[in-house]
Amino acid sequence: MIGIIGAMDVEIRSILSRMEEVEAKTIGGIQMHTGKLGKKPVVLALCGVGKVYAAHAVSIVTTHFNTTSIINVGVAGGIAPEVEIGDIVLSTDLVQHDFDASATGSGWLKGQIPYLDSPFFKSGEALVRAAKTAAKSVMPPEKIHIGRIATGDQFINKSETKKEIWQTFTPLCVEMEGAAMAQICALANIPFIAIRAISDKADGTAHHDFPAFVEETAAISSAIVIKMLSIL
Ligand code: ADE
Repeated sequence: MIGIIGAMDVEIRSILSRMEEVEAKTIGGIQMHTGKLGKKPVVLALCGVGKVYAAHAVSIVTTHFNTTSIINVGVAGGIAPEVEIGDIVLSTDLVQHDFDASATGSGWLKGQIPYLDSPFFKSGEALVRAAKTAAKSVMPPEKIHIGRIATGDQFINKSETKKEIWQTFTPLCVEMEGAAMAQICALANIPFIAIRAISDKADGTAHHDFPAFVEETAAISSAIVIKMLSIL
């Protein structure tokens, strides 16, 4: 079974509308729907916004269902200069930009969780390949970006914060759940990918663009996941 997790209703509703044999279930406060998507068994979970909900949802989904991979759907703020509203980002690795134990003097890097090898959680290679094929079939290549995603418990809408995140981690985009899901998937040894459509540019215009574009861009991310399920 494949687990698909989104933070907000707007980020999962077009996937839910395409599912068949749907059954609703709530465990640990996480609303889930099981069913088939393009004939494949899936569990679709609504986790809520932020890293705590995201980590909790992955634990619930992976302990209650026999999930072979986890896909995070949703929107994100563009960070890299080439990333525009309406583009798609497929994660190759994820980092928590707001995690910082570097001041301990113990040599931990920014984003690095003490005693883990690296600040970056790698995505599943087969998932990245399938997502790339799926994305290519639904949108032009110049709108597809494959690389790093940064996650934190903040909506980024200041150029200075954007610049700092860019200079420290060089991510393509920023969002609020992906790296927390990736961390729990790494613990559980389950392949993970985040597929995020760009709703805003994470700068002084973000609080106008996010509400204006969240619905249509969330649908782009969902369309790729729906297509991807036919490849996996
Ligand atoms: N998700 C979508 N846009 C975002 C932003 N600017 N910051 C954090 N998460 C986001």
